[in-house]
Amino acid sequence: MTTPTFTPRVFSGIQPSGGLTLGNYLGAIKRFVSMQDEAFETIYCMVDLHAITVWQDPADLRRNTRELAAGFIASGISPEKSILINQSQVPEHAQLAWIFNCVARMGWMKRMTQFKDKAGKNAEAASLGLFGYPTLMAADILIYHATHVPVGEDQKQHLELTRDIAAKFNHDYGVDFFPLTEPVIEGAATRVMSLRDGSKKMSKSDPSDASRINMTDDADTLAKKIRKAKTDPDALPSEAAGLADRPEARNLVNIYAALNDQSVEEVLREVGGQQFGTFKPLLAELAVTKLSPISEEMARLMADPSEIDRILSRGAGQAREITAPILEKTYEIVGMVR
Ligand code: TYM
Repeated sequence: MTTPTFTPRVFSGIQPSGGLTLGNYLGAIKRFVSMQDEAFETIYCMVDLHAITVWQDPADLRRNTRELAAGFIASGISPEKSILINQSQVPEHAQLAWIFNCVARMGWMKRMTQFKDKAGKNAEAASLGLFGYPTLMAADILIYHATHVPVGEDQKQHLELTRDIAAKFNHDYGVDFFPLTEPVIEGAATRVMSLRDGSKKMSKSDPSDASRINMTDDADTLAKKIRKAKTDPDALPSEAAGLADRPEARNLVNIYAALNDQSVEEVLREVGGQQFGTFKPLLAELAVTKLSPISEEMARLMADPSEIDRILSRGAGQAREITAPILEKTYEIVGMVR
């Protein structure tokens, strides 16, 4: 089955399980913003139901959900161009997830690397929700018949599972109902690495705050984290091939390229030959220029959370116009008496 019969529609989500990181911004949000102006309907989501697969303090969860919405808007997501929602206000996500729990196979779920990473050594103590996380993610996407999903590299396996679930549902029920969604993993920074360890992903759950750039970091903190970022002693190469075995150097160059909307080759033409003592202040200045307006706007929006709540409530109403008929049709296909 191909997707052209489906309306070009983008869905993506971010967990409100902590602050926004530079990884979320460069790997996902920047692309969310640009897709608003392409030929797509766009729906962006704070996945609060996913967040509680690991413990969240209720007051923190509420605050983080609003702050994430503020981060989306401050980064350029317009509630006029996109539907902006928090997952729990659109109940069809969780309802479709149940159906998908009955489509996905245990063997498929057991292969998910994110569960293995997050559950760690003590998988017996992980929540059932953490194991089932990817079927809810498939439902997030397919309840909109979304055709394209912009994400960072780490979500690739979940998107493959989403396609497998759509294909099995279509096959089992003899329908052509769910699209095979295309992942959109593009740009210079689809995998932003930790500033302390070039082999680890930059993550909001890393215990070391120095490992990441938070979108709410002030200019001084930002500059200090970049100055202290782990590097090697060599000068920067003039061509991308010279970064192959230098994960920390590659990460900083990727970040620079993504922030400045340049390719890695373009950046290296300008900075090749420089020592990190010269390059790091340039990167810090660029990061402050690009990120401070966002964090200032986030703070301004957070001063009036009721406006954010209104946007999310309106978004939920718009979203349900799409999701309610798709859920009804799914129930009909499956054989539920309506
Ligand atoms: P989450 O909240 O971990 O991350 C949100 C988005 O940010 C990207 N990302 C990164 N990109 C580059 N470098 C990094 N270091 C980095 N860290 C995070 C992620 O790839 C993601 O695009 N399961 C998802 C949330 C989700 C979702 C969905 C996404 C739920 N339902 C439906 C797409 C469609 C997650 O945990 O993202």
